[in-house]
Amino acid sequence: MSSTTSPSKGIFDSAMLEARENVVDLLTKAYWMELETVMSYLAASVNLDGVRAQEIKESLAEDVQEELGHAQRFADRIKELYGVVPGSEEFSAEQHFLQPPDEQTDTVHVIRGVIKAETGAIEHYTRIVEETDQIDPVTQDMVIEILRDEQGHRRLFEGFLREYELEGR
Ligand SMILES: [Fe+2]
Ligand SMILES: [Fe+2]
Repeated sequence: MSSTTSPSKGIFDSAMLEARENVVDLLTKAYWMELETVMSYLAASVNLDGVRAQEIKESLAEDVQEELGHAQRFADRIKELYGVVPGSEEFSAEQHFLQPPDEQTDTVHVIRGVIKAETGAIEHYTRIVEETDQIDPVTQDMVIEILRDEQGHRRLFEGFLREYELEGR
């Protein structure tokens, strides 16, 4: 290193190319997770039947907007890091646990699926927070905020599950 090196541009340094590509890959996975969650929650927010399902449906309908907002933030950050937001043909579904239940009154199936999806997001976003530490504080900041939303979602649905388990299905 000479004493005349230009000031660091952080994640945008040419020496950081590999790190930046890694962050884009992590963000792309997060983007797909959010979009699949939008599909799953949208379907469940409409499909569920029954008096007690109404609150779950309303909560999921709100979450659809929030998860879509997360997807948009991930997409924006992918572009800022010189990545390309992928097209739909690159999508492959993973939320087999959030497919519509056999009975549309099976709210517990949906609640458990939501908890699983939120847990998956929390795990992946925690990984992004760790991998961007000291490398890309801007991405890290954004993901910490989104991680908090997912922790809130999971906590809310854990509460729903406890109520259903206490009262029986
Ligand atoms: Fe999300
Ligand atoms: Fe969420």
